[in-house]
Amino acid sequence: MKFPRQVRLVEVGPRDGLQNEARPVPVEAKVALIDALSAAGHRAVEAGSFVSPKWVPQMANTDQVMTRIARRLGVAYPVLVPNKQGMNGAVESRCEEIAVFTAASEAFCRKNTNCSIDESFKRFAPVLEAAQKHGMKVRGYVSTVIACPYDGTVAPVKVAEVSERLFRMGCYEVSLGDTIGVGTPADCVAMVDAVAERVPREKLAAHFHDTYGQSLANILAVMERGIAVFDTAVAGLGGCPYAKGASGNVGTEDVIYLLNGLGIEHGVDLDAVAEAGRTICAALGREPASKVAQALKARLAA
Ligand code: HMG
Ligand code: MG
Repeated sequence: MKFPRQVRLVEVGPRDGLQNEARPVPVEAKVALIDALSAAGHRAVEAGSFVSPKWVPQMANTDQVMTRIARRLGVAYPVLVPNKQGMNGAVESRCEEIAVFTAASEAFCRKNTNCSIDESFKRFAPVLEAAQKHGMKVRGYVSTVIACPYDGTVAPVKVAEVSERLFRMGCYEVSLGDTIGVGTPADCVAMVDAVAERVPREKLAAHFHDTYGQSLANILAVMERGIAVFDTAVAGLGGCPYAKGASGNVGTEDVIYLLNGLGIEHGVDLDAVAEAGRTICAALGREPASKVAQALKARLAA
């Protein structure tokens, strides 16, 4: 098996992880989590979203979060932005990186952002223009890259088409989201290979949710196909409010444990991430979903 020597992890727990929590998460808890994750060695920590608070109430305090976090040199704190209004918020909060998001299936795009895929790109145009003006980096997300909760199976060619549009529009990287976590390694390899015909592999990231427990297998499979950027969530927190039943992202602790075992560099400290995970899980009153986090917690208690 041929794997990359080094991978980049994008920690999405504070955004993807917390956006779906039922009870409100105070600004202080979010700030403490983000600071603990950057201190653990993460070079990218997704910090929140400038979306409608009516749609995603948990992200309503992202402006305060951005003001209070300790911005470490060399660490990116991307925020999700769906439209010009969100971009204004990101600019006011002095964000240096944003992420725009669309989908490979029409039904999900509409449920998530109240517009078609084409309309989502129309909304991105002024966002990209402003990003250029303010020197902000832009990452792109494609959701439902394997299947849609409303439309069913999604053709890899459709994912490739949307990914290419994001890349050509100016996204420095396109993150491929198995939003509902149904993919298996064969599906993910087929999808990644199709996208790689239109976007260079080194510009692609994998964003796997773990609903069916396949994320680690999927990561291993696409890593063999040249993917070297993975979105992960501390403690395996999360889910999308507009994809019912979808569980959290693959746990950061699980991916680090896998990479450590393979001798692949990533620069993040497992124990420090696990500690950050235990703290936020205690604040949320829930157990970590990550198996490695659970094992480390049990070892501490023994
Ligand atoms: P809309 O209702 O079509 O927007 O929503 P609108 O432009 O018609 O405006 C309606 C109201 O929303 C107005 O307020 C606007 O001011 C307000 P009102 O006059 O009614 O009081 N509004 C905003 N407020 C704050 N920030 C904004 C903003 N824009 C409008 N940026 C919109 C369109 C996109 C805003 C809405 O659908 C929305 O916010 N959706 C949230 C989507 C979301 O955050 N989903 C979760 C993240 S994506 C995800 O999890 C997937 C990912 O992880 C990858 C994967 O796993 O697949 C990335
Ligand atoms: Mg997600």
